[in-house]
Amino acid sequence: MLLPLALSTALLLVPLATAEQAYIGNSDYDSGALGLSPTQSFVGTDFKPVQLNFQLAANDSTEGHLSDGFLFIAPRGTDVEQAGALILDQNGTVVWDGSEYGSTMLFIVTQYHDEDHILLWQGEFRAAGYGFGHYLLLNSTYDVVANFTTQDLANDALADFHDAQIWDGDTATMTAYVVSQRDLSEHNGPSDGYIASGVFQEIDVESNEVLFTWNSLDHVDPYDCYTDPGSTGDSTDNPWDYFHINAIDKDNSANYLVSSRHCHALFYIDHTSGDITWRLGGKNSSFTMGDNTDFSWQHDNRWRSDDTISLFDNAASDWQSDAEYARGMLLKIDTEQMTADLEKEWLPWNQTVSVSQGNLQILDNGNAVIGWGHQPFFQEYDSDGNVLWAARFGVGDVQSYRAYRFEWTGHPRTSPTIAVSGTSDNITVYASWNGATESRAGSSSVLPTMRLRTRPSFRP
Ligand SMILES: *[C@@H]1O[C@H](CO)[C@@H](O)[C@H](O)[C@H]1NC(C)=O
Ligand SMILES: *[C@@H]1O[C@H](CO)[C@@H](O)[C@H](O)[C@H]1NC(C)=O
Ligand SMILES: *[C@@H]1O[C@H](CO)[C@@H](O)[C@H](O)[C@H]1NC(C)=O
Ligand SMILES: *[C@@H]1O[C@H](CO)[C@@H](O)[C@H](O)[C@H]1NC(C)=O
Ligand SMILES: *[C@@H]1O[C@H](CO)[C@@H](O)[C@H](O)[C@H]1NC(C)=O
Ligand SMILES: *[C@@H]1O[C@H](CO)[C@@H](O)[C@H](O)[C@H]1NC(C)=O
Ligand SMILES: *[C@@H]1O[C@H](CO)[C@@H](O)[C@H](O)[C@H]1NC(C)=O
Repeated sequence: MLLPLALSTALLLVPLATAEQAYIGNSDYDSGALGLSPTQSFVGTDFKPVQLNFQLAANDSTEGHLSDGFLFIAPRGTDVEQAGALILDQNGTVVWDGSEYGSTMLFIVTQYHDEDHILLWQGEFRAAGYGFGHYLLLNSTYDVVANFTTQDLANDALADFHDAQIWDGDTATMTAYVVSQRDLSEHNGPSDGYIASGVFQEIDVESNEVLFTWNSLDHVDPYDCYTDPGSTGDSTDNPWDYFHINAIDKDNSANYLVSSRHCHALFYIDHTSGDITWRLGGKNSSFTMGDNTDFSWQHDNRWRSDDTISLFDNAASDWQSDAEYARGMLLKIDTEQMTADLEKEWLPWNQTVSVSQGNLQILDNGNAVIGWGHQPFFQEYDSDGNVLWAARFGVGDVQSYRAYRFEWTGHPRTSPTIAVSGTSDNITVYASWNGATESRAGSSSVLPTMRLRTRPSFRP
């Protein structure tokens, strides 16, 4: 099934029981003795994906509580050898290496036209902290079936990397950063200054028809947020990013819930007028905020029911720390009494803040996955909040914008890569098949990218 018939009849294939596997509790990994970004490698391919080191590994008592699916991260950073999207199995072995699309940020499985697709961002990283690019939808055979971006924005601004989601199987919301000229002297910036507004757009993916566009400067005054221009604001390439949009969610009323990192607030936006109905958090919250609900520099707000919202509370930026650690939060909001209360929180394995990025995924069985953003850690919790496993994926400058678990079936249209080595009395055949989730070898382990050992069909 894996190898060309000629080869498999000529050689008796004996699958090697192990593929590349994650480290477990390896202190040399943690100390950097194995390098700042340990990698795994596969004979016959030039993939150099990161290797994990589990701080806590799943064991016999926790295994049964894991959610189904593979692990999705997109390592990048100056120490990463090969940045890009990665799907791993629970042992850390690569299932799909998407580095051909380059360094990416948003990387999820979503439903497009009623079928699972990979959605990822591809483009140019701008020094000011946002992106200019496109979103790709890949179907289960890894064909790019859509390549879309924002339409008709000022300065031809293209889709930013922070967030895109597919709605009802055929429309997409995307973040964008649009720069305009503005007198920033009242904010201690240049009078001939430049400001970036947080923009989002919803389009029809197939037709590119624009359904909605929102620009933060039309609704949110820079005084409502927590940054000053500082050394920014002096050119189009270095605008003052006063708002920093980083996630858009929608509810059953089709209204938008938008996160502004630099305002420490979520804005609930009417989908026809664009008006702000209420603000959660920040300087002017519409809600009375209950105990331990303050969040700052946050990411990844999602509706979890009609009255609960989850988010990742970074609690820090590059220049400021507001708490001892970042966390995942679930807030219960009452839009009549206008109160917000903490329903649940998830604390990190490595108790520290995360100065950027990060996410909280809540799975159907109640488990949660958190990616600690700037910190190269991710972990899974059971529905009671107990940690099932915690893994790191690097030591130096290694980050993943988000981390997830998704069920995914991939049937690549490529053939496996075959490499042969050894001498005639002991030949080793290696087969790697990037993205194949259904290939099986020997026993019953799924070894999508695998290494097969063979010996001659008869011994001399
Ligand atoms: C299994 O892992 C959990 C979570 O890390 C831990 O609490 C528990 O002690 C472990 N059990 C065994 C038998 O190692
Ligand atoms: C994926 O898209 C390609 C190109 O459009 C198409 O040929 C292929 O049949 C699709 N695969 C599936 C499983 O739909
Ligand atoms: C997506 O479209 C952009 C703009 O045309 C192009 O630069 C990029 O290469 C495309 N990506 C893929 C994977 O086709
Ligand atoms: C606070 O928000 C309300 C709307 O929710 C707005 O009318 C008011 O002007 C804001 N106040 C300040 C000081 O920004
Ligand atoms: C935890 O995070 C801190 C802050 O980034 C880092 O210095 C430390 O090495 C991390 N601890 C472990 C065990 O990785
Ligand atoms: C065959 O080659 C493999 C890989 O080099 C090696 O691990 C193994 O010990 C060799 N087996 C024999 C019987 O020489
Ligand atoms: C992980 O490795 C263990 C031990 O080698 C193996 O039993 C298990 O099937 C592997 N799991 C996956 C998902 O490959």
